[in-house]
Amino acid sequence: MNILVFAASHRPTSSNRKLARLSADWLNVHEAKVDFAEYVELDTPLYNAQQSEEGNIPESVRRIAARVAQADALVIAAPEYNWSVPGSLKNLIDWLSHLSPCPLKDKTALLMCATPSKRGGAVGLSHLKTTLESVGVYVYPPALTCGEAEKVLGTDTILDGKTRDRFETLHTGFLDYATRLLPKAA
Ligand SMILES: Cc1cc2nc3c(=O)[nH]c(=O)nc-3n(C[C@H](O)[C@H](O)[C@H](O)COP(=O)(O)O)c2cc1C
Repeated sequence: MNILVFAASHRPTSSNRKLARLSADWLNVHEAKVDFAEYVELDTPLYNAQQSEEGNIPESVRRIAARVAQADALVIAAPEYNWSVPGSLKNLIDWLSHLSPCPLKDKTALLMCATPSKRGGAVGLSHLKTTLESVGVYVYPPALTCGEAEKVLGTDTILDGKTRDRFETLHTGFLDYATRLLPKAA
């Protein structure tokens, strides 16, 4: 199982990067092969429909598409921006969605969100789920919302026991889900 893991934040102290790193470490221990991407490696120019129609695909998009294609599954920790998906992440999905074949199609995905607010970013994650499903991603139905992240997350640990249990259960369930949905070898 090859899993691409990233957080949709450029901040070195990002709470979502902490979650993504914890996820990568958990998956590594549970025998997945993790490709951890820093968000800067996933930067793309603004989507341009004319350019896309002409097949004039930016090199960065081609590079990211190849990386996504190598993965069987994705783990995305995305902050909620204005109750929705960070524009940079939506932009990346838009570029990938118009490639043929779309490298996202038939992947499985686990979604997480860390925020300082108590709500935990559930609305942003629901928007991200809808967008990913529209391009053929099988999003694992439970997600991890982590409110008051500065209290809950340490540098490389989950300080709060309940969140730690949710994280563990979620990852165990996701690995099983992603394994069941792996395309069977012909
Ligand atoms: C443009 C912008 C919009 C934001 N909108 C929300 C929001 O709708 N809900 C929320 O809980 N936090 C919101 N925040 C706060 C982010 O959750 C907070 O900055 C978070 O730490 C970002 O994630 P990171 O630590 O991984 O960089 C917003 C932040 C920015 C910069």
